[in-house]
Amino acid sequence: MAEFKEISPNAPAAAKLLNWVDNRFPASKLFKEHMSEYYAPKNFNFWYIFGSLSLLVLVIQIVTGIFLTMHYKPDAALAFGSVEYIMRDVPWGWLIRYMHSTGASAFFVVVYLHMFRGLMYGSYRKPRELIWLFGCGIFLALMAEAFMGYLLPWGQMSYWGAQVIVNLFAAIPFVGPDLALLIRGDFVVGDATLNRFFAFHVIAVPLVLLGLVVAHIIALHEVGSNNPDGIEIKAKKDAKGRPLDGIPFHPYYSVHDIFGVGVFLMVFSAIVFFAPEMGGYFLEYNNFVPADPFQTPLHIAPVWYFTPYYSMLRAVTDEMMYALMACVLAGAVLAVAKGKMPKLFKGAIVGFAVVLVAMMLAIDAKFWGVVAMGGGVVILFFLPWLDNSPVLSIRYRPSWHKYLYAVFVIDFLVLGYLGILPVSDISSRISQVGTLFYFGFFLLMPWWSRMGTPKPVPDRVTFTAH
Ligand code: HEM
Repeated sequence: MAEFKEISPNAPAAAKLLNWVDNRFPASKLFKEHMSEYYAPKNFNFWYIFGSLSLLVLVIQIVTGIFLTMHYKPDAALAFGSVEYIMRDVPWGWLIRYMHSTGASAFFVVVYLHMFRGLMYGSYRKPRELIWLFGCGIFLALMAEAFMGYLLPWGQMSYWGAQVIVNLFAAIPFVGPDLALLIRGDFVVGDATLNRFFAFHVIAVPLVLLGLVVAHIIALHEVGSNNPDGIEIKAKKDAKGRPLDGIPFHPYYSVHDIFGVGVFLMVFSAIVFFAPEMGGYFLEYNNFVPADPFQTPLHIAPVWYFTPYYSMLRAVTDEMMYALMACVLAGAVLAVAKGKMPKLFKGAIVGFAVVLVAMMLAIDAKFWGVVAMGGGVVILFFLPWLDNSPVLSIRYRPSWHKYLYAVFVIDFLVLGYLGILPVSDISSRISQVGTLFYFGFFLLMPWWSRMGTPKPVPDRVTFTAH
């Protein structure tokens, strides 16, 4: 046990209280370690605001969610009406509900920007792999959370969206139909589904999410933040062991983040008060119609943040399967021809490719669509080991890497846009090219990330006082 610290009897009451607490709980120690003596690189730019904003949105979602739960009824006969009741009769209920629905979209906006920052500056590379892996776990949990939350208002889109997505699981060979039944708790989406999604949405997934966020930040504070130059600031320290290019997180970045919070809240309030439906993108119009199991809407589309992955699902048609098989075989030939590895490995690669192609011929394209949709997210977990560039940050990579990243972003946006539209021949073709590019970007990264000559990386971070 640590020694009890005495404090002067003449000290102010607040200091005495803090001393009393510190003798029983490491409050000041934690504050020092994680705030006032946590040295962050001095060259952060605005991209570094989205981590704190994600935290803010998490808090908004939890607090508004708690208040919504006070009046919401997880019962197929009452759910839609209870949401209408919240909107019309509960004092300020409309505000709480719109904050929660806008918060869901805001969460994905800030998290996508936060992830893109990581991609640009190589923040997932050694020694930050675990920060990235926890982040990917958060992203998966967030998707599950949003999907299950969307069923709760029990509107047409809630109902049919869930029906479509849960049915996808039925495409998995052997276990699929039983798995879909297990998820639904019934043969169609119904009261049992609503109840279990409610349980997962309000308690199970938020607990996982909170645990992962804590792990994410502990891992970050263990190794320290990266920065737009991708230079390790711990490599150059002063006599007291403080990084020369580091500044205390508090007050420098707490102020920086509060500014970001101010700007964010202005935009967030403008949407909540003036455009909460956001033209049908944040709240789909069809969801203002109660769920009707006997009436399938003409066009079923998920909310915008899922649509890039939904496009990947729809891109995998019977025809696309031939292109995918050709890619698998070409990949295997390339690996065997170019790779420096023992003969046994080469044999294993060829064997694997042949088995995979045989499976692709035997199993329905719908299943491979599900694999593409899931694979689009899962591939992110492997990013730290796919990137072989000798430098971390995009700033010092060969210039054409920037264009490649730009095409990647445009590709993701186009896939997202196409996922909202009903399928057509042309949109299906574009999604197929877009899906191949998305996977090509990651799977060929070990090769293209090494190409070209990187620019010289300076010793110290680039910083101009402002
Ligand atoms: C609820 C969601 C999330 C929260 C609350 C959160 C929170 C944070 C915070 C506070 C930071 C430090 C400040 C900053 O660098 O911006 C951070 C850093 C980081 N986050 Fe997240 N994060 C979330 C999701 C994600 C996701 C989905 C990923 C990636 C898949 C990710 C990857 C990273 C990385 C790589 C860093 C280190 C960045 C650097 O040092 O350059 N995070 N996160």
